[in-house]
Amino acid sequence: MSTEHTLVLVKPDGVARGLTGQILARIEAKGYELVDLKKFTPGRELLEAHYAEHEGKPFYEPLVAFMMSGDVVAAKVSGHRVIEGFRSLAGTTDPTTAAPGTIRGDLGRDWDLKVQQNLVHGSDSSESAERELALWFG
Ligand code: PPS
Repeated sequence: MSTEHTLVLVKPDGVARGLTGQILARIEAKGYELVDLKKFTPGRELLEAHYAEHEGKPFYEPLVAFMMSGDVVAAKVSGHRVIEGFRSLAGTTDPTTAAPGTIRGDLGRDWDLKVQQNLVHGSDSSESAERELALWFG
């Protein structure tokens, strides 16, 4: 069995709403390991590197500004097939329509703001995970 690593971010909305513990508990309950954790407000330089592939999209600037607006919790998470497993646990991008049973579906909704406040980020491929973990954990 091969072990993968992924980057999970509890976004500023999740931290501000006091949902960090619930979100991390769901990750552990599914059987993944929290290898490393840190809480801080990320700067523009880190976020621009993290979201580089989305530069130019209409949501890019609001997303970067939202992510700089408060503390996030970054987690290095490990387990067999954890990249796709966490994406499935998180649910689809729009929290209003994300399936019940997922983090976004159970805990999130559209707050009628310009930014998608969808609680969590998870790397979308092994290449992204490697790149993002290097950015956030060095
Ligand atoms: S895309 O264009 O299909 O690649 O977009 P997607 O994979 O769904 O989302 C990429 C990241 O952008 C976030 N996102 C948004 N943020 C704010 N507002 C809007 N409208 C919006 N749409 C998408 C989405 O949550 C992804 O960020 P992460 O951090 O990976 O969740």
